[in-house]
Amino acid sequence: MPKINLLPEELINKIAAGEVIERPASVVKELIENSLDAGATRIVVEIKDYGKRLIKVSDNGEGMDQEDALKSVLRHATSKIKEVNDLFAIQTLGFRGEALASIAAVSRLTLITKQKGLVEGFSIIVEGGQMVNSGIVAAEKGTTVEVEDLFFNTPARKKFLKTDLVELRHIVEVVTHYALINSHISFRLIHDLKEWLNSPSVEDWRGNLAAIYGADLTKELLEISYHTPDDSIEVSGFVSKPYDARNDKTQQSLFVNRRWIRNEDLTKTVYDAYHSLLFVGKHPVFVINVNVDPTKIDVNVHPTKLDVKIEQKKEVQRALFTAIREAMRKNDLLPVMDFSYEQQLTFGTVGKKEEHKRDIKYHLDSSEQVPLQVKESEVLSSSLPESYVSMGSKSGMPESEKVPPLKLLGQLHQTFFVAETPGGVLFIDQHVVQERVLYEEFMEQLMNKNVAVQNLLSSEILELTPAQKLLLLENKNALHQLGFMLEEFGENSFVLKTIPTVFGRLQPKEMLFEVISMLQEGKNKLEQVQEEIITRMACRASVKAGDVLTNGEMQILLNSLSNTLFPYTCPHGRAVLIKMTVDELEKKFRRK
Ligand SMILES: Nc1ncnc2c1ncn2[C@@H]1O[C@H](COP(=O)(O)OP(=O)(O)OP(=O)(O)O)[C@@H](O)[C@H]1O
Ligand SMILES: [Mg+2]
Repeated sequence: MPKINLLPEELINKIAAGEVIERPASVVKELIENSLDAGATRIVVEIKDYGKRLIKVSDNGEGMDQEDALKSVLRHATSKIKEVNDLFAIQTLGFRGEALASIAAVSRLTLITKQKGLVEGFSIIVEGGQMVNSGIVAAEKGTTVEVEDLFFNTPARKKFLKTDLVELRHIVEVVTHYALINSHISFRLIHDLKEWLNSPSVEDWRGNLAAIYGADLTKELLEISYHTPDDSIEVSGFVSKPYDARNDKTQQSLFVNRRWIRNEDLTKTVYDAYHSLLFVGKHPVFVINVNVDPTKIDVNVHPTKLDVKIEQKKEVQRALFTAIREAMRKNDLLPVMDFSYEQQLTFGTVGKKEEHKRDIKYHLDSSEQVPLQVKESEVLSSSLPESYVSMGSKSGMPESEKVPPLKLLGQLHQTFFVAETPGGVLFIDQHVVQERVLYEEFMEQLMNKNVAVQNLLSSEILELTPAQKLLLLENKNALHQLGFMLEEFGENSFVLKTIPTVFGRLQPKEMLFEVISMLQEGKNKLEQVQEEIITRMACRASVKAGDVLTNGEMQILLNSLSNTLFPYTCPHGRAVLIKMTVDELEKKFRRK
């Protein structure tokens, strides 16, 4: 018996819709792209109940006549391409003739449109792919699409939606990106009557960024502008100065021919251009558009059109790199090689030597050291000399997990503690000790749901992008448990009231932004990245190589170490201490 069925139209449409419309934000993206292709200068996005109840996009673009309106919701119906060759020279954002049909297949869609010059408008209503009504209506010039009850007939898809705030964040992200690249078009985003974004039409690009990212950040951005000698590639946009880089990647936007894309290779090129100028874990802000010949790119590579294939990828990367480097150079941000110093090294001439002494990472200042006096008899004696401090460990801890008894001798290279221990010498990494100590202190508090917090005397006000704000709202309770108490303060601002005491050494804002950035890198859920967050905070809050410590401070740290459960490694697994036995020393000195 034959087993192959030809699928009914309705099912075909649902399957196709599944590829194009993943979540409410996909609807917003498709509708905005249609409005842009229709030449709109004003686009309003209204959302109700995080996009589940209503997504409405209105524009003042060219509109459609009756016949086109009826066709627009059919699959493979487009005004943007006609034949195969057109597919390889796409100038518009849409080209597949699929978006409206896909949206209509999984929602109740109402389209109202009026073409310029016509007296009447036209409206159609499609429910789950079935046309249920159409007729003449009064309307303004342009097009309004209302999408209600998204995924009402695909419960599986509905079930897989993330939390409301995550979905809203994706919507905000889409609108923000298109607003960033279209200065002359006014964008508004309203959710449940609250305005999330208002980006009016402005003359210049920098002014547009200021409306979205705020004047403070924007005035610090460097403009980039470069084209290849043959004009085939044009790079323009704005990038942050290296030291203005952020802890998260929410303010990075890349466009090719003004189409918002995500492309790892090009993003990597941006980071490469910053090279050593960027601190570890820091991310530049950028809004960059690359214009290339539309026949040299393939936009038909991703179901949601979120990436493109570029024929001259290498050339584009080079142009992008040059554009950013040029901007840095013009602004004196590139470090220059000091040739006089090189020569000095080569020819041994005297001169600036003193200055360069500072560059040497470790130097031993004998006056700061406690003299090392180890009497042979003491070291070799098996009974514990009185001068050794026995480090009290947690009761019930296996012998092997205890910190050995030791006598602190001093600090070495402002990086290691040196201590005498029965049968040898201990070298202890000061940074790693504190990392272990802070990590365990905090973990214990967290497990007991009793994180000690420190009130911030001067309130820290955090200015956030809408996307950052949503990320924060999603995790507000969990952040609270970690010791960060936040209160909403105006539109996109929060006041940070408390921080965890254990990490009090850190800059409060920095710490919170780092947590936010990790949330973003992880799956946006605090529980999944909690361990990593605490490890990183412990690392950042710990003393570093180069920090001078007093004997008292060292002793306190060592005492705390002995109270930890796992004193031998840092949370990442690096060794806290290394022992060199007297036996080894004796072999080295050929005493044995
Ligand atoms: N806001 C609008 N204003 C004017 N015409 C529109 C608008 N939205 C859609 N159309 C018309 O309807 C057609 C179908 O739209 P649809 O989004 O389904 O496909 P597309 O934009 O051509 O391609 P894609 O599937 O890649 O988005 C468009 O080609 C366009 O002619
Ligand atoms: Mg479209």
